[in-house]
Amino acid sequence: MTSASPTRYTRIAGTGSHLPPRRVTNDDLARELAGRGIETSDQWIVDRTGIRARHFADDGVACSDLALAAARHALEAASCRPEDVDLIIVATSTPDMVFPSTACILQAKLGITHGGPAFDVQAVCSGFIYALTVADAMIRTGAARRALVVGAEIFSRILDFDDRTTCVLFGDGAGAVVLEASDAPGLLSSELHADGRHVGILCVPGTLAGGRVSGDPLLKMDGQAVFKLAVGVLADVAFAVLAKAGRSEVDIDWLIPHQANLRIMRGTARKLKLAPDKLIVTVDEQGNTSAASIPLALDQGIRSRRIARGDTLLLEGVGGGFTWGAVLLDY
Ligand code: ACO
Repeated sequence: MTSASPTRYTRIAGTGSHLPPRRVTNDDLARELAGRGIETSDQWIVDRTGIRARHFADDGVACSDLALAAARHALEAASCRPEDVDLIIVATSTPDMVFPSTACILQAKLGITHGGPAFDVQAVCSGFIYALTVADAMIRTGAARRALVVGAEIFSRILDFDDRTTCVLFGDGAGAVVLEASDAPGLLSSELHADGRHVGILCVPGTLAGGRVSGDPLLKMDGQAVFKLAVGVLADVAFAVLAKAGRSEVDIDWLIPHQANLRIMRGTARKLKLAPDKLIVTVDEQGNTSAASIPLALDQGIRSRRIARGDTLLLEGVGGGFTWGAVLLDY
């Protein structure tokens, strides 16, 4: 470990992402649900959420496989070898195993053997913001020099395809960033929050006991309660990170919110007085990929050359727990 330095910051060196190849449109899903006697439509899904398609991982593909593909793209973009990474954090709610962590499995798949720390963060759809904040703190205090932070999910495995109110919303995928210590910012400010009184509005209540699943292992959500909480906290936390960094809404070049629902995202952009074209949107083609959605959107914005070096980005997440948070950064 190196010693802490008051002038040490964290910057993004590279990003990457990966979607499993199987693309499922709303019409595909509606046909599948019709076979179960459940009615839905492309129009209902688009009108309420903005989602047109999502990607689902095939059987046998693990969360760490998606994370590995995204991580390799990010390492390549950062011109960095796997063994140069001295910290791995994976944000996921759909890990390969109960334990060990998907981060340890990813470390092995990347062929890293130097013994640097690797662990998972579980904050559902806020997971990437939590992971980014923890990695930033470890870099700034000298506990790490180069971190790989990944959001990776296979939500299709925990969806109840007999519940049309939830199964149309989610998708699978992974996004990754390589962070490195820098003399200049970088990450400017962050805020993390949780309110555990709302555990029940978005949860997978099952657990393992005595070699069996005990309780319901599929996702449950009170959509309207989530909607109301999300709209309020996303605006509040955006203003909080701006104030902390001494910046204001006019400084934001790109808003990259958790991609849950286009209506929530547009509502946040309006509260920040941002033009709609300042919003990076991937929910239309990817659905809600939980902890993967922010790094997927970030990578898409960078690879499509909309986001340029020097731009100021506001990343914000909200999800089960209830958890929420934001990171303001100069890319
Ligand atoms: N297809 C057709 N009809 C449907 C579907 C569907 N897939 N799902 C629900 N409906 C029906 C309902 O049964 C209801 O019918 P009724 O009026 O006959 O009772 C009607 O549509 C309206 O249902 P509501 O639940 O009131 O629909 P609402 O406008 O609240 O939209 C939604 C539901 C999209 C889930 C909304 O509440 C929402 O966006 N919530 C935010 C939650 C969210 O995005 N969660 C993502 C995970 S959490 C996170 O990432 C932060």
